[in-house]
Amino acid sequence: MKALTWQGKRDVRVETAPDPKIEQPSDAIVRVTSTNICGSDLHLYEVLGAFLETGDILGHEAMGIVEEVGPQASEHLQPGDRVVVPFNISCGHCWMCQRQLYAQCETTQVREHGKGAALFGYTKLYGSVPGGQAEYLRVPQAHFGPIKVPQGPPDDRFVYLSDILPTAWQAVVYADIPKGGSVAVYGLGPVGQLCTRIAHHLGAGRVFGVDLVPERLATARQYGAEVIDAGHTTDVPGYLHDTTDGRGPDAVIDAVGMESHGNPIAKIGQQMVTMLPDAVAEPLAKNFGIDRMGALMDCIKTVRRGGTVSVSGVYGGSIDPMPMMEMFDKGIQLRMGQCHVKRWINDIMPLVLDDADPLGTESLATHHLPLDQAPHGYDIFQKKQDGCQKVVLRP
Ligand SMILES: NC(=O)c1ccc[n+]([C@@H]2O[C@H](COP(=O)([O-])OP(=O)(O)OC[C@H]3O[C@@H](n4cnc5c(N)ncnc54)[C@H](O)[C@@H]3O)[C@@H](O)[C@H]2O)c1
Ligand SMILES: [Zn+2]
Ligand SMILES: [Zn+2]
Repeated sequence: MKALTWQGKRDVRVETAPDPKIEQPSDAIVRVTSTNICGSDLHLYEVLGAFLETGDILGHEAMGIVEEVGPQASEHLQPGDRVVVPFNISCGHCWMCQRQLYAQCETTQVREHGKGAALFGYTKLYGSVPGGQAEYLRVPQAHFGPIKVPQGPPDDRFVYLSDILPTAWQAVVYADIPKGGSVAVYGLGPVGQLCTRIAHHLGAGRVFGVDLVPERLATARQYGAEVIDAGHTTDVPGYLHDTTDGRGPDAVIDAVGMESHGNPIAKIGQQMVTMLPDAVAEPLAKNFGIDRMGALMDCIKTVRRGGTVSVSGVYGGSIDPMPMMEMFDKGIQLRMGQCHVKRWINDIMPLVLDDADPLGTESLATHHLPLDQAPHGYDIFQKKQDGCQKVVLRP
């Protein structure tokens, strides 16, 4: 089959890989019909190469048609079913899964690296599981994971259930916005866009969106956010305080993550780590800060006293300095983590099935490309060229 493979920093290629086969009785094989490029893939493309091997198949946002089912998954799935595959691999019955903490599944936890549930296409830290930017995907724990969706509506209605829709939903729930209260969303990539829409849907009164990319600001404005251009506003937290009676929004969501703009010195450090040989870069990346934390720092500054910061952006360092005095003195809540995808699907499904498409999933992708053009997709998504806001690949 054809698959998108990681070859090095900013170097991904479509290559021929062996067709996946059923390896465990609870596996299924899915023929992929749509598979997205995510901001999380950009971290692999740019800074997390120390944790990848040449030839690793990337991708964790896939949907398609079930081709083959192992004996232990055959009660849940049949060949021909149309399914979306959650990015985390969870068993559905362990102690963590019983509490719906699917991103921490104890059956698939990658204990060797001290990590939570295995993920598709996301480095050896998360199990080196071949990803879904490919023609076929082997899905472990298929008795539980795959989300069945009806035939009929286009893939774009459903494909974001694999990650960014439940991620945004969880970010908004974790943000704990009071009814009619205010929330600021830092980062208006696909995750941040969906956060602004879901925040409105769940009853926020004022929704602010912060980014530096004009077309991303425009999209958020179209969906009712009050937008702030961080490229042309010297003090975004100060501005947000001024517009909320001097207090700051009730909640703030970080939908930026480890590659925040505006940290020139941290950027140099991060770039240096990515240029070192893996043996040196890996312990550095693991044990020290590899994060550019400008957006998270702004989130902490922005939130009102006693408010909540909800972090959905991915961070990876382990001694990143945090403004403890400010956090303690302001008495903020901080919630974060990988999304527990299946936990939120019942809440979201009626919205993606609604003819009116209230979350605008059908128009979220700016680019639909054949798998062969995936390297071009990575390039324009990272550089924010050609108006690129989300890429869906069609293998
Ligand atoms: N927690 C999870 O389970 C989960 C799931 C999916 C994605 N993520 C993470 O969420 C983050 C966003 O993902 P995405 O797909 O939307 O990515 P993206 O890269 O398209 O979006 C990030 C946006 O942040 C903006 N930005 C950069 N610095 C900023 C700053 N200082 N202030 C304001 N905006 C700034 C960029 O211009 C960009 O539009 C990534 O870190 C990704 O890894 C987490
Ligand atoms: Zn993703
Ligand atoms: Zn489990």
